[in-house]
Amino acid sequence: MGKQDTSDLPNLGDLRHEEQRCLAICAGKKCAKAGSTLILHAAQTALQEVGLDSSTRIVLTRCQDQCEDGPVVTVVPGGYPYLNMRSQDMRPIVTSHIRDGVPVADLLPRRWRRRLERGTE
Ligand code: FES
Repeated sequence: MGKQDTSDLPNLGDLRHEEQRCLAICAGKKCAKAGSTLILHAAQTALQEVGLDSSTRIVLTRCQDQCEDGPVVTVVPGGYPYLNMRSQDMRPIVTSHIRDGVPVADLLPRRWRRRLERGTE
């Protein structure tokens, strides 16, 4: 990703009607600087290892407006924002959230964890 021009990439909002599960990885400048290319590779590897690489899309997006907390990966549908991603976080996100449909509460921002605890998600 690095210095790539992101103007051809979708915005996160463009994916809001997406029904197929996908990992929306921010390819914006700050996330790229924070290591989004490593996160992309970790996501591809995790999906392959779990056998979901053909059924789950990875979409690179423009800035997702969480620049201070990059790299940012959002799981669609639902728009679950996983912030400050590390490569090792992708495997639990893929196995739990993508495969089993259970968001990884510990890796979500506090307000999302509270929503999950209240059962409103
Ligand atoms: S560059 Fe990724 S959220 Fe802004």
